[in-house]
Amino acid sequence: MTATVGKAALIIGASRGLGYALTAEYLARGWRVTATVRGTGRSDLRDLAGNAGDRLVVETVDITVPEQVAALHERLAQTTFDLLFVSAGVTNAPEETVADVPTETFVHLMVTHALSPMRVVETLQDLVAPEGTIAVMSSGQGSVANNDNGGFEVYRASKSALNQLMRSFPRLLVGQPWRAAARSAGCVRQACGAAFRARGLSCWSECGRGGGAGVPSGAAVRRG
Ligand SMILES: NC(=O)c1ccc[n+]([C@@H]2O[C@H](COP(=O)([O-])OP(=O)(O)OC[C@H]3O[C@@H](n4cnc5c(N)ncnc54)[C@H](OP(=O)(O)O)[C@@H]3O)[C@@H](O)[C@H]2O)c1
Repeated sequence: MTATVGKAALIIGASRGLGYALTAEYLARGWRVTATVRGTGRSDLRDLAGNAGDRLVVETVDITVPEQVAALHERLAQTTFDLLFVSAGVTNAPEETVADVPTETFVHLMVTHALSPMRVVETLQDLVAPEGTIAVMSSGQGSVANNDNGGFEVYRASKSALNQLMRSFPRLLVGQPWRAAARSAGCVRQACGAAFRARGLSCWSECGRGGGAGVPSGAAVRRG
């Protein structure tokens, strides 16, 4: 733990849930953290900022708005991070199948989970130090091979798309020393996980293999 003191992380989508938990954990490990929210209202992150001193900076960005991502890059242009972690995510109604999901909901999940995280990575990558890490929050649900139960098909598809894009990303950067990772959170008690439990489904069976409740598991790790 001591070896990581003084490092810097940029965590996107940290108002609450896993992004917030990651922020709190990195702070506890002695890192400096810049973490983002969407709005100006009260959030767990803003509450934390009140007690964290100058090691936590709260920024704002909606990852689905490219102009906001570009503006964030401009504001952070003088900062170098050891870790960029895009955690932002949403979910849709558990009962929606691909046959009845409204097109705008389908687009919303795809844009939020696949296109936007990769736009954030593409836009902010030059803020990450050589040998730093770029990570996006995927899900065991994004695994095609592990899909034995069906359900949550739009959410699954959006995370599968993210995995595919992230797997391609280091290939575009051959020769770059970054580590790139798509992480699954297992199934934890945040809003996204609550949608699964609302269907009476167990975390283990519906949140995929390789990660029990609250235990992060690697979905893909590649070095460019
Ligand atoms: N919970 C689980 O069991 C589980 C399992 C596997 C993977 N995951 C993944 O882990 C990530 C976090 O999940 P969670 O459970 O922490 O969800 P959560 O509690 O619902 O929190 C989602 C976070 O993402 C932010 N966000 C949503 N849309 C955004 C956007 N367009 N731009 C910027 N920020 C946005 C939210 O900000 P606001 O407060 O402004 O809405 C919030 O901070 C997601 O990618 C999810 O798919 C979760």
